[in-house]
Amino acid sequence: MSEKRENWGSKLGLVLAMAGNAVGLGNFWRYPYQAAKNGGGAFMLPYFGALILMGIPLMLVEWSLGRMGGKYGHGTLGPMVYLQAREGVKPRTAILIGSLAGGLALAVTLLVNSYYNHIIGWTMGYTVLSLTGSYMNVESTGQFFADYIQNPGLVFGFWLLALTTLMFTAMGGIQKGVERMAKILMPTIYVFGIILIIRTLTLGSPNAAHPDWTPIAGLNFIWSPRWSELNWAATMAACGQIFFTLSIGMGIICNYASYLKPDDDIVLSGLTTVALNELAEVILGGTIAIPIAYAFMGPDGVGASIGLSFIALPSLFKEMGFGNLIGALWFLLLSFAGLTSAVAMYNYLVSLIMENTSAIRKKASVLVFIGYIIVGLPVALEPILTKTADLMYFTEVDNWVGNFFLFILGMTEIIVTGWLFREKGLPEINRGSYWKVPSWFYKLFIQGITPIAMIVVLVMYVVDTAK
Ligand code: PHE
Repeated sequence: MSEKRENWGSKLGLVLAMAGNAVGLGNFWRYPYQAAKNGGGAFMLPYFGALILMGIPLMLVEWSLGRMGGKYGHGTLGPMVYLQAREGVKPRTAILIGSLAGGLALAVTLLVNSYYNHIIGWTMGYTVLSLTGSYMNVESTGQFFADYIQNPGLVFGFWLLALTTLMFTAMGGIQKGVERMAKILMPTIYVFGIILIIRTLTLGSPNAAHPDWTPIAGLNFIWSPRWSELNWAATMAACGQIFFTLSIGMGIICNYASYLKPDDDIVLSGLTTVALNELAEVILGGTIAIPIAYAFMGPDGVGASIGLSFIALPSLFKEMGFGNLIGALWFLLLSFAGLTSAVAMYNYLVSLIMENTSAIRKKASVLVFIGYIIVGLPVALEPILTKTADLMYFTEVDNWVGNFFLFILGMTEIIVTGWLFREKGLPEINRGSYWKVPSWFYKLFIQGITPIAMIVVLVMYVVDTAK
């Protein structure tokens, strides 16, 4: 540790930064297509189940692990679990689990960033191309996207712009970097989201051949359950989405919480973070992309991943009034959401380096930049070298992270807290909190249903997919 640990400057700044951490590309790019692909309304059942059973308990656990770690100058997951040794867990067990979880968390953070920062770069590029009307007259927005990701100038230019923005924000530190960014970008995201919803819902029925394809019918499509599509894979996808969207599992919530003061509130602030994220996911994220796509293309147009945000929506922006402005607003919203999350992952790695070497913040920020270039190169080069837009490597990595790794890490955290740390965990969550978590909740969820439900989902998923 070569610099004094910072604290958050204000409560508002903290909550906005935490919400910024959670609200990301997961809310606007990933959630809509996951819901559409996995049973629509039937997806909502495991989704909200996972939110209550896993998301909320883990959010509280990560806040408390983080605040406790900050006390010892450690802001990441690995040392965090190790620190529990000092708080009464048998050291050898704690160190073993801590190092395994810490190592996996580090690997997952690097993996996520191998593609996450590219999407931010693309959204920045597409913001400019929307404003200049570049895809307004093209025949195929699919071809336009394929050309874009095979264009080294555009891909590398905007990727470096995204990484440089992140690097300078991280160099600014917690109050002058992260907190300031969140205070500016977070309110903007909600305002943009509301404007886009209004535009979406006033589209009418733009496809003359199908007057019944309206934005409301699109909403109906993702909310009405198709039970036949609900299986263990869809359940796992819903749990994975909760982990992805709330940023839990890899320790980036811990990291932000490590800048709390020892008696700062956890319960109310943690729940506010969850609420702000779900508002941005289920209401904003769920009411823009799918209803627009449905209104123009019907039920077949809504299930694609990157294709929905970067191919389907642009093809519709060019048909609608004020399309280039609406397009720019959509991509700017995506890039703001992406940046405030990516900066959380960036700061996580910066503090990991600072805690384990003598590097100061500036040097650590440059090292992360270099690390990101290395892990991001395969994703950037795949389309350029293969001359296709399949993004197979990207999709594979995202599936592993979103459906598997974060889940396993979260399971480790909850088992460590609930079963190794036992009753010491509850006072740690409640200290300084305005609302206290009752001990029955702790026993029932954190020590009981949550870890058991996670084990069941994981086992059933593995058994089911192995068949
Ligand atoms: N929660 C953020 C999002 O929804 C960022 C994030 C992604 C965090 C993946 C962890 C893992 O985009």
